[in-house]
Amino acid sequence: MEGFTPLLFEDIKGSERPEIILANAPKFKELIMQYECAIMEVHTKLHVLNNEFSHLHQRNPIETIKTRIKTPTSILEKLNRRNLPLCVETLENDLTDIAGIRVICPFPDDIYNVAELLTNQDDVVLVARKDYIKNPKKNGYRSLHLIIEIPIFLASGKKNMKVEVQLRTIAMDFWASLDHKLRYKQDLKNSEEITLELKQCADTIAGVD
Ligand code: GTP
Ligand code: MG
Repeated sequence: MEGFTPLLFEDIKGSERPEIILANAPKFKELIMQYECAIMEVHTKLHVLNNEFSHLHQRNPIETIKTRIKTPTSILEKLNRRNLPLCVETLENDLTDIAGIRVICPFPDDIYNVAELLTNQDDVVLVARKDYIKNPKKNGYRSLHLIIEIPIFLASGKKNMKVEVQLRTIAMDFWASLDHKLRYKQDLKNSEEITLELKQCADTIAGVD
């Protein structure tokens, strides 16, 4: 493919452990290192906002920050699902959630406050915003999702990186964790009933917020 930078020179489609081959490819390792740097930058920005707010108001608007880098296995799964080639450009342009940060706040207002303060910074570009709090998913999922782009400064110069930021309240996170656990239990009987109960539970939790 012209104009594309392959991550590997071998075809790993038929191989037994493609994720291990990918994880060891130098170009892939370099990209993952850069996403780790992008996470550090956003993490620091959030810490700064939290510190200043607690200095001014004697309360933290951020309860916890969790970070994760998408695993080679999920990266390969997503590329396959979307029929995308394994190259640097698709990872950087089409997979916007390789670097992920989850921000847990005490109150819904804190979420919007933190999101606005972060995206108003002059080195942060807002690429996409999905408000699943104002418009919850059918199953009851609530969170504010942002895709932002921020620069990292490498020896070779400046590079813009995409980071997915998910903001939720403690209550929304509690629900999402349960939902995640239950959805990955394939052997569940009465799953329809559980889906309905989860939806009711999500609405109750929203009432708590
Ligand atoms: P992905 O391909 O999964 O990244 O989804 P998407 O590109 O359609 O984006 P979306 O904003 O809908 O979801 C991105 C991420 O939000 C997911 O990877 C999950 O971490 C989280 N998420 C979205 N929907 C749900 C849900 O119903 N339950 C839980 N527990 N998490 C969810
Ligand atoms: Mg995702």
